[in-house]
Amino acid sequence: MNAVPHDVRPVSGTAGAPSPGDRFWRRLGGVAFGGDYNPEQWPAETRAEDLRLMAEARVNLVTVGVFGWARVEPARGAYDFSLFDQVLDDLHAHGITADLATMTASPPPWLVHEHPEILPVTADGTVLGPGGRQHFCPSSPVYRERAALLVERLATHYRDHPALGLWHVGNEYGCHIAACYCEVSAADFRRWLRERYGDDLAALNDAWSTDFWSQRYASFDHIQPPRAAPTYPNPAQQLDYTRFANETLRDCFDLEAGILRRVTPEVPITTNFLGGLKAVDVFDWAPRLDVVAVDSYPDPHDQRPHLAPGLVYDTMRGAGGGQPWILMEQAPSAVNWRGRNAIKQPGQMRLWSWQAVAQGADAILYFQWRQSRGGAEKFHSGMVPHAGADSRVFREITALGRELAAVPDLPGTRVSNQVAILLDWNSWWALELDSHPSDGVRQEERLLDHYGPLFDLGVGVDVVPPSAELTGYALVVVPNLYLLSSEDARRVSSYVAGGGALAVSFFSGIVDEHDRVHLGGYPAPLREVLGVRVEEFCPAAEHERFPVRGHGVLSHLEGVADLWREDLHLAGAEPEVVFDSADWAGRPAVTRHEFGAGIARYLSTRLDAVTMRAVLGRALAEAGATPVVEGLPAGVQASVRAGAGRRFLILLNHTGDKHDIALSGAWTDALDPSDEGVATVTLPPSGVAVLRAGD
Ligand code: GLA
Repeated sequence: MNAVPHDVRPVSGTAGAPSPGDRFWRRLGGVAFGGDYNPEQWPAETRAEDLRLMAEARVNLVTVGVFGWARVEPARGAYDFSLFDQVLDDLHAHGITADLATMTASPPPWLVHEHPEILPVTADGTVLGPGGRQHFCPSSPVYRERAALLVERLATHYRDHPALGLWHVGNEYGCHIAACYCEVSAADFRRWLRERYGDDLAALNDAWSTDFWSQRYASFDHIQPPRAAPTYPNPAQQLDYTRFANETLRDCFDLEAGILRRVTPEVPITTNFLGGLKAVDVFDWAPRLDVVAVDSYPDPHDQRPHLAPGLVYDTMRGAGGGQPWILMEQAPSAVNWRGRNAIKQPGQMRLWSWQAVAQGADAILYFQWRQSRGGAEKFHSGMVPHAGADSRVFREITALGRELAAVPDLPGTRVSNQVAILLDWNSWWALELDSHPSDGVRQEERLLDHYGPLFDLGVGVDVVPPSAELTGYALVVVPNLYLLSSEDARRVSSYVAGGGALAVSFFSGIVDEHDRVHLGGYPAPLREVLGVRVEEFCPAAEHERFPVRGHGVLSHLEGVADLWREDLHLAGAEPEVVFDSADWAGRPAVTRHEFGAGIARYLSTRLDAVTMRAVLGRALAEAGATPVVEGLPAGVQASVRAGAGRRFLILLNHTGDKHDIALSGAWTDALDPSDEGVATVTLPPSGVAVLRAGD
């Protein structure tokens, strides 16, 4: 069942030969622009108009066939590629590259009819029916066999097609089905556990702390998935199940990618991650892709809708080792799947697309090209909406296509940052398990509590795993890294000893990889570097707020904390912010510790955004890290993309006000080269400026 090829790492260029990923970017010859193209939903005649409008919008890359399985294999083994043959021929004739999907994201009705056992089962035993999509158990040998046969046929059929530029494996793995709990999955989990624990049941019993609540296993055969239980299932079992589920989905990806690499070794491979998805460990998967791609759906109703996507984009760039990435899907305007689906206001789609470019994307695509007439997503916007090409949405699409085409030399430049945020999917999974001191400590929220103030301070951030090389960073920020191995803790500590600056937030370094507490006072493996020792967590009630005030250099500061406090003892560190309430007056809230040649801060509570900005600002200043552009108004984002002798400055106004930005240095307007020697840029609300250095 699990004969998964493991030689699926990207083929990097040997002896100067370009890698498949490099070839992809070269082929596109500029920023790629396009979207999911689903001509199977339309009569053949529509295609002529599609191709004409694509030319008008300067589309050069489309994703084809994501939900094509039922069309190309209408009955078991009866393959019919005629529709996609015509589509790919037409695309090629119009100079458009195809990101061809492997079509395995939605098994066809005949397959479910013949093999209902492929359907996924939830933790409470509900069998999920067909009629939606992603209705397969990732461990199912039947699903895997039919998917592999399809991919083999597809790859063989299209291997020499000139339109084929990229393989799009599956679709948003884990988006609907993060894990399956059927009997097939249970058996597969037992196989996975035997491998993980080297067939050593004692090691598993130890790792899972099974002497608690009489859970000691006498045989691997007695182990079940953590299904719905009378009370909290064993947390280490849950954590391992989440790891297993991630790897099982990854095995599905590997199975297809292995076939593609064998049949079409020159064609690069991607899959579209879903931004902010907990189920799929992007850092774990990304090295298997030639090009990282992500889907991003900011909610225009949010207060600061650009922040969460910004965090996702910095994560994608981090996952790809700084390489360019693809914004594979975004909505041209509204989505259909929230309770209230806001449109993107005029200019917002352009602003958020340029934000992705500013943060390292070299491809801007949408879901989807033509808004569907029927089906579950008919009220999801399309590049060509129901209203047709004579519409605001299509005009904005066309204008953006033209703008991106105006900077063909932007690809090849890179973003580089002085600040890193550490994120680890294993820690995320463990952090959000049940029966913790507070259920208010959620990974994404806590990341944004750090990311937002750094964004406001105008510094760019790389989001990287704890195993990343940290030495080049001026400041490393660690938001609630609950699970931390002793080895990673040592790496972080030696980064500080070597002169690095560190800021760690509470409930970090608490457990090892088996969710067992590091003993001796929290956060045990970071105690020395932080110079503190915590005896007890004191989580706050929802309504509780605690006044805090700065100490020493930050003595002007007055703020508020909430969510969490702790019985913190100084062991070498100095207080930098203290509590100011009657019961806790003077007790440390934020500490600063000189360790070796570096400085480590500890934030033992959640600070309000302004106080957080002041604390992180101080850490940045001491670390010598500077904003991308000094003195920008709050809410104006700046990013520099540089390399290969070129340098671009991208300015993005996320506020509702107009701002005039005075520039230092020689810049021209990259979108309007006649406008030479720009000294001041006027950014209207949602305004964008793309400036080129030097000429
Ligand atoms: C995801 C999917 C697409 C589509 C969009 C709608 O990103 O990959 O097929 O359903 O959501 O927002």
